[in-house]
Amino acid sequence: MINKATILDGKNLSNIIQKSLALEVAKLKENNILPSLCVVLVGENPASVSYVNMKAKACLNVGIKSSIIRLSENITQDELLKQIEFLNNDKNINGILVQLPLPKHIDTNLILECININKDVDGFHPYNIGRMYANIDTFLPATPLGIMLLLKHYNISLKGRDVCIIGASNIVGKPLSLMMLNEGASVSICHILTKDLRQYTLKADIVCVGVGKINLLTADMIKENAVVIDIGINKRNNKILGDANFNEISKKASFITPVPGGVGPMTISALLQNTIKSAKIQSNIKA
Ligand code: GUN
Repeated sequence: MINKATILDGKNLSNIIQKSLALEVAKLKENNILPSLCVVLVGENPASVSYVNMKAKACLNVGIKSSIIRLSENITQDELLKQIEFLNNDKNINGILVQLPLPKHIDTNLILECININKDVDGFHPYNIGRMYANIDTFLPATPLGIMLLLKHYNISLKGRDVCIIGASNIVGKPLSLMMLNEGASVSICHILTKDLRQYTLKADIVCVGVGKINLLTADMIKENAVVIDIGINKRNNKILGDANFNEISKKASFITPVPGGVGPMTISALLQNTIKSAKIQSNIKA
């Protein structure tokens, strides 16, 4: 059977968004506003190093100034807090992103809560999470925001749709569930303790999966014409694979994101969008 699913082309949409962001940055620069992002990387986790480098490259692409602060895996919590406090007070830095995960000896929540709420381009500060919860304009976490932009671009409405999200992380699953709920979806969040995953996926109009397990979602687990959003990034034999079995599912779903080239590039564009928003907020321009 031939593939029937339309590919949700995140790479292409991301290029379109970045072209428009580049124009926006050029206009800000005419008014002497230079959006800037500082990424804090603790340790040398290869995946984190690769993500951070991609973020810096994308900044360059649209004219955003970026810097990476590389810190030792052994940095103390107090030293890291001091570093963030320094960035909070640096007028030349608009957005601050602390790459996660952090080493185990550091309290991640404490670090995230220390970031200036107007520089919190990840949207992970409890203040901004609260605003997202209440559906008030704020910084929305980049991966869920990227997914929402992708669905919007392909005119996939969330109103009255049944959504199943597999993965309940603070970075993706939880914020995605709120954002989709705010758009009128009925959302189920499944996780490692969910007794019967299939019971949820089979009912869903839209299935989002992001737990880091190759082939977790198979064609027999979705209904005909479902929309499948694959947030997984797994490496096998030097190839990047998602969490969904693309070959099977693309013959049954109506839409599917490829990995790579789906959610990943959208995450980066959403981060750039948030960085420009932070520059505008700090220059008292309506974002
Ligand atoms: N690690 C994996 N995804 C993310 C993200 O969106 N933001 C941060 N800060 N760290 C991450």
